[in-house]
Amino acid sequence: MELLAILGCALLLPVVLGEDCPSPCSCWSLGQAWGTRVDCSSRGLRSLPALPRLTRDLRLHNNSLAFIPAGALDSLSHLRELELGDNPWHCDCHILYLKLWLQDFSAPTLARLRCASPTHLRMKSLGQLTGNDLGVCTRLLPTKCLQFFWRDLVLIAGVIITFILVVWALKVSKKLVCQLTLRGWQLRRSIHKTHKIQ
Ligand SMILES: *[C@@H]1O[C@H](CO)[C@@H](O)[C@H](O)[C@H]1NC(C)=O
Repeated sequence: MELLAILGCALLLPVVLGEDCPSPCSCWSLGQAWGTRVDCSSRGLRSLPALPRLTRDLRLHNNSLAFIPAGALDSLSHLRELELGDNPWHCDCHILYLKLWLQDFSAPTLARLRCASPTHLRMKSLGQLTGNDLGVCTRLLPTKCLQFFWRDLVLIAGVIITFILVVWALKVSKKLVCQLTLRGWQLRRSIHKTHKIQ
């Protein structure tokens, strides 16, 4: 029985880990409460692979990464260790996400990373990049603008629907009042008539 359980665990563990371990990397479980160590170092990666949700320790050094896609690290709430050295970081607007993310996560890591390109920023620390170095990052605006657009659209639609409902309610109540006064008037007339007959 025990043997079966051990065998089951031995079979299950790589499956569980294999399920979300990106193909060129190696993954180890550091225990359930801890999360996963994901080693993607020295794999010649040009883009960030899809990472396990429970990644705690992420090694990405010595690859060909030029930037980290915006938002790619946001869902990794278990992340504690991150190695990003020896990558040819390209310091344009696309690097802004990594720079801002590392400012919160680990300032020393940020200071150690250096731009590989463009030429005028070569060897400059990511931590020392200024707005002037990156120029106008208009490309980052559209998604934010779009978010505002949708939010505003929903708000405006809400206001219009409320307005229509209020107008409709007013109309109905007006009709009701009319009907009531008409009935009251008819009633008074019929009473008047019966009085006259008598
Ligand atoms: C860096 O990665 C390459 C493969 O992409 C490997 O051949 C080389 O040995 C690695 N260098 C170090 C210092 O690990």
